[in-house]
Amino acid sequence: MVNWSLYYLSRNLEQISRIEIRQRVLVLGGGGAVGLAAIQLSAAAGCIVTTTCGSQSIQRVLDVGAEQAIDYTTEDIELAIKGQFDAVLDTIGIPETERLGINLLKRGGHYMTLQGEAASLADRYGLAIGLPAATAVLLKKQFQYRYSHGIEYCWTYMRADAEGLDEIRRLAEAGKMKIPVEKTFPITQVREAHEAKEKRLVPGKVVLEVD
Ligand SMILES: NC(=O)c1ccc[n+]([C@@H]2O[C@H](COP(=O)([O-])OP(=O)(O)OC[C@H]3O[C@@H](n4cnc5c(N)ncnc54)[C@H](OP(=O)(O)O)[C@@H]3O)[C@@H](O)[C@H]2O)c1
Repeated sequence: MVNWSLYYLSRNLEQISRIEIRQRVLVLGGGGAVGLAAIQLSAAAGCIVTTTCGSQSIQRVLDVGAEQAIDYTTEDIELAIKGQFDAVLDTIGIPETERLGINLLKRGGHYMTLQGEAASLADRYGLAIGLPAATAVLLKKQFQYRYSHGIEYCWTYMRADAEGLDEIRRLAEAGKMKIPVEKTFPITQVREAHEAKEKRLVPGKVVLEVD
């Protein structure tokens, strides 16, 4: 069993978001770096993966294990998808993808978004107000969706995890996990590397090379 949370989540989220063999998983935004990794982790766990991405990413997501890829720029996603999912990972996290993900889950399913509001609220109001405000938003949504759709809602965050990295190394060595690297910068050009990502000059992963 592979768990997205090996990558991103705190321990408690890890317990609720487990994905298992033959479960149906929807990755919203599979064309991005995180989405592409999530497709591969889910496929390696034996899940049946559907994803949304732009037209230029369709072949890439199919090549790494997605069974169905829907072009969010030209297709009606709800019409294109048949049936419901056990888990949704939303890497985009805008109201439209949240609505879509929640509606496409079966009862008891898990919706996970990378766009939890804890960091943005803490940035805006400071930790003392921002974190309690974020907790209130999260609890409200969890309660609301449990009541209206019978699903579990959570925010996922990156965290260092030796066990997770080890699993990723094992999958990479087995050829089941490929992360396309778009550009490599020497460590002395760390500013340029950050700018390349922030200004969206480089679409894929950027690597800093240490001598
Ligand atoms: N919570 C955390 O700890 C955590 C950790 C890492 C990243 N993040 C966040 O997660 C997000 C994704 O990161 P990333 O590194 O994967 O970004 P990325 O490589 O820049 O990918 C973003 C991709 O989103 C796709 N996209 C945009 N709008 C879409 C839509 N409506 N439907 C489907 N796909 C859409 C585009 O795919 P196409 O090219 O196919 O059009 C784009 O390539 C970022 O906002 C990042 O800040 C959060």
